[in-house]
Amino acid sequence: MITKLKQSLENLVNELEGINTKEELNDIKIKYLGRKSDLIVLLRSIKELPEEERAEAGRQGNQIKKSIESLIEKKSIEITNSKSKEYINQGIDITYPGKQMQLGKLHPITQMYDEVVDVFRELGFTIWEGPDIVDDWHCFEMLRMPKDHPARDSQDTYYIEKDRILPRTHTSAAQSRAMIQLEPPIKVLVPGRCYRNEKVDPRHTDQFYQFEGLVLDENASVKDLKATLTEAFRRLLNNNDIEIRFRHNHFPYTEPSIEVDATCINCNGKGCPYCSKSGWIELCGAGFVHPEVLENFGIDSEKYQGYAFGPGIERFVALKHKIPDARLMLENDIRTLKQF
Ligand code: PHE
Repeated sequence: MITKLKQSLENLVNELEGINTKEELNDIKIKYLGRKSDLIVLLRSIKELPEEERAEAGRQGNQIKKSIESLIEKKSIEITNSKSKEYINQGIDITYPGKQMQLGKLHPITQMYDEVVDVFRELGFTIWEGPDIVDDWHCFEMLRMPKDHPARDSQDTYYIEKDRILPRTHTSAAQSRAMIQLEPPIKVLVPGRCYRNEKVDPRHTDQFYQFEGLVLDENASVKDLKATLTEAFRRLLNNNDIEIRFRHNHFPYTEPSIEVDATCINCNGKGCPYCSKSGWIELCGAGFVHPEVLENFGIDSEKYQGYAFGPGIERFVALKHKIPDARLMLENDIRTLKQF
């Protein structure tokens, strides 16, 4: 048996001479060291030898195995070195560090957008879409904001076609669409981008995201609105202590109209510079859909009632990650984005 193994070693030495590539070397490795190779088969049969021969055969067998392994290893290094020499001759420095690939990540606004969708889906809302480009009728007229209505001043508009076609200034434009296309009971959430002709400063951008909620049925109540927003905001901000409060406000399309504040998550309501020491952070406008708006869309306002709300997504990103300047989120600076 040992003679056979020694023969095997000699054959290997010869075969290795003609080898130039790692692929060929790999085949050789399988041939000499693979599970079905002569060597391994022979080594396995040692246990069948008479007892007094076993130890010696095992020792020699293993020595030959080691020699084969080291010959193959040596050849492998030789191949690598000769390849390197080839590159060096061509003036290529293969020791130069390579370019590191940067793995991308979802933008923090996109992450929050996805969370908003998940949370409201869990709360029983259907996620619905409305176009970014809308007409004046959907965005203003049907929501009780005729031309020259002062409420339009607070939503400085970029017009694509003067007074007619515009990138929506608020996702409430999608409320109109929902009330045209769906029959109550309605429980939809429309997330999306909005545009306002505003000067960009640390607290404002001219593009932002909102998510518009619209719930219409026969017995929607203020209690529902409060419970829904409290639960949603708690989940979105990962904070179970958040409380919300309503303040009076005015929107032409809701009655009553409210401004929704939540406990400042920076100081847990104690008061800090972030919330101007009030302990509360303003999160969104909301209210009960005005009966005239319902009637505009042919919905019986005696039978159906409901609420709408429209928070901005950036505000949640800023709160969650404690980002002081909203513009950072639009710059797409990889150093900033990597932190999320
Ligand atoms: N559209 C209002 C805004 O952009 C928010 C709002 C939505 C108010 C729904 C009332 C009802 O600020």
